[in-house]
Amino acid sequence: MSVRRLADDAVQPASFSFTEENMAWAKEMIAKFPEGRQQSAVIPLLMRAQEQAGWVTKAAIEYMAAMLDMPLIRVLEVATFYTQFQLKPVGTKAHIQVCGTTPCMLRGSEELMNVCRSKINPEPGELNADGTLSWEEVECQGACVNAPMIMVFKDTYEDLTPERLSEIIDAFEAGKGDTIKPGPQNGRFSSEPAGALTSLLDGADKSGQGV
Ligand code: FES
Repeated sequence: MSVRRLADDAVQPASFSFTEENMAWAKEMIAKFPEGRQQSAVIPLLMRAQEQAGWVTKAAIEYMAAMLDMPLIRVLEVATFYTQFQLKPVGTKAHIQVCGTTPCMLRGSEELMNVCRSKINPEPGELNADGTLSWEEVECQGACVNAPMIMVFKDTYEDLTPERLSEIIDAFEAGKGDTIKPGPQNGRFSSEPAGALTSLLDGADKSGQGV
């Protein structure tokens, strides 16, 4: 595992505070835990802070420590341990997470990463020239049956080819990421066989759909 440190002070914003809506959500989240155990809300609160700011800033970590009455080092430990937390700025329009674990690797994830290298930045974790896009390799996202795949925000895009990934990146860059339907990108509905059924054929029609 790589060393995970906070971003340079030069890119750290001076302050962080939850929006009114997120503060109301945070209070509800904290109230779910027994009295004296409010610190257990640190992971969902840090994740909400990341969704609000795009990444987990030093100011957000200090804010959580004060809000949950936790030693700063405890919040730092959580933020730096879990790779789901982005510790430096990511693309303002999209951060592309490419699964590189074995099933996706065998199905072409390296070619997908080459698309990211050429369209975004040769190095993972670095921004493109406009600061709008970034990418990284991640471990299994649980969609192996539709490998290879990427995740952007909370959506997965599966059954990818380099060409399709290129189109998806262009859509996010143009601010039209919401026009791309998440899920399989090769026409199949979910994880049914890409061709016709090869087993459990009794009672199946010839289109590949079981009955
Ligand atoms: S190996 Fe890529 S989603 Fe599981």
